[in-house]
Amino acid sequence: MIKLKTPIVIAIDGHSSCGKSSFAKNIACELNYLYIDSGAMYRAFTLFAMHRGFLMNGIANDSELEKNIHNINIDFKKTCNSAYETYLNGENVENAIRTMPVSENVSEISKIKSVRSRLVALQQKMGERKEIVMDGRDIGTVVFPNAELKLFMTANLEVRAQRRYNELMEKGTSVLLSEVRDNLAQRDFIDENRLESPLKMADDAIILDNSNLTPLQQMEWFKKLVEKFE
Ligand code: DC
Repeated sequence: MIKLKTPIVIAIDGHSSCGKSSFAKNIACELNYLYIDSGAMYRAFTLFAMHRGFLMNGIANDSELEKNIHNINIDFKKTCNSAYETYLNGENVENAIRTMPVSENVSEISKIKSVRSRLVALQQKMGERKEIVMDGRDIGTVVFPNAELKLFMTANLEVRAQRRYNELMEKGTSVLLSEVRDNLAQRDFIDENRLESPLKMADDAIILDNSNLTPLQQMEWFKKLVEKFE
């Protein structure tokens, strides 16, 4: 358990599937902070659009989505083993948002300005009391530009594809490694090049490349880093 002198906000950004969520969850647990996976919010929005027919053949109906923007409620609830699960309008969608169809469509939804404004407002509200770790693509640049600690995580594409592939296989999803790699490369490209809040490192962020680091080594690295806040 790490005890900090004053409550802080920790913003973590980085590429798809580089282990941001696992790392963020572990440090939040160590600090006894709230953990928010902002990617899960974009995924839940995507599921909503798919179910309502606002996303057809990979093309989003922006104006219908905008009209429905306040009909979407996204929540996180802690399970008995302290993990957080995502709820969309009261329904547990934690597994549904991790499927390939959602991964293939989420970039289309996350580039829409009205979607981003709504989710950023919800995220800022969640961080009002600090003591929060949030991960995503624009957390240190847009959501919490004044966060006390900003990290930018990355790992090479091959390592990331293999990790994501293993996760999907464990869940019993049949998928090709090449399919996973292509999806990650495509999402990286869209995330870095979109007009609205592209993925970029904040000037004051600290880089963590975990290509060759175990979760334990990452935690050791983090413990040294936060000594200045203790
Ligand atoms: O972290 P993830 O891979 O589950 O995120 C899913 C998608 O959501 C990702 O392709 C980009 C988008 N996203 C975003 O645009 N901004 C965020 N803060 C978090 C995720």
